[in-house]
Amino acid sequence: MEIIEQLNWRYATKAMNGQQIPQEKIDRILEAARLAPSSNGLQPFEIIVISNQALKEKIRPAAFDQPQITGCSHLLVFAAWDGYTPERIDAFIAHTAAKRGGDPERLERQRQSLMNNFGRMDQDRGYAHAARQAYLSLGVTIVAAAAEGVDGTPMEGFDPERLDAILGLREKGLRSAVIIALGYRDTEKDWLVNLTKVRKDKAQFVTELN
Ligand SMILES: Cc1cc2nc3c(=O)[nH]c(=O)nc-3n(C[C@H](O)[C@H](O)[C@H](O)COP(=O)(O)O)c2cc1C
Repeated sequence: MEIIEQLNWRYATKAMNGQQIPQEKIDRILEAARLAPSSNGLQPFEIIVISNQALKEKIRPAAFDQPQITGCSHLLVFAAWDGYTPERIDAFIAHTAAKRGGDPERLERQRQSLMNNFGRMDQDRGYAHAARQAYLSLGVTIVAAAAEGVDGTPMEGFDPERLDAILGLREKGLRSAVIIALGYRDTEKDWLVNLTKVRKDKAQFVTELN
């Protein structure tokens, strides 16, 4: 399938059939998520991959009882940093140096620039910025899942505080930003499966300045 065909095929599935996604497909979807760009390359979020059914059952009430939570094969939780800290910025610079090497003075300038731009953000602004980076990776995840013929329902319909408590995220300096249920559509039970996709027309969506 070409990308436009894949994006027309996918939809935010409302009922999933519990079928398991092969591990190699999950691995490729997660690799695509990992390769998503982020502001300054900081990747200020992690992905928690939940395939344990008992844990999914526990999460469902915290997500307004949405059936995709338990009908999916894998539930991905995009957990963003709760803020930028000097330690996190230092760790990023150390990681960059280990992976790429490079001039120590240049790395120090990069560190200082990051400290100036992010190290001074208050926690709420830092979290909001980090969450935006997580959403970008979510977008790549959605496309990658479609390319694998896997359904994905992105979801904001959950109580982040309850989900954080279930997964112990706050203790790790993380906050759940958005989740995606990955699995396969239940064509019998999903009311949305045959409905026309609704999007703005191009004229309302794109302004061309030639
Ligand atoms: C950030 C985000 C949050 C969403 N939250 C939910 C959700 O909690 N439950 C749900 O069933 N769909 C959710 N959706 C799906 C959207 O309603 C859906 O993507 C949109 O209506 C477009 O339809 P389509 O994806 O089926 O083409 C969410 C989508 C996004 C991008």
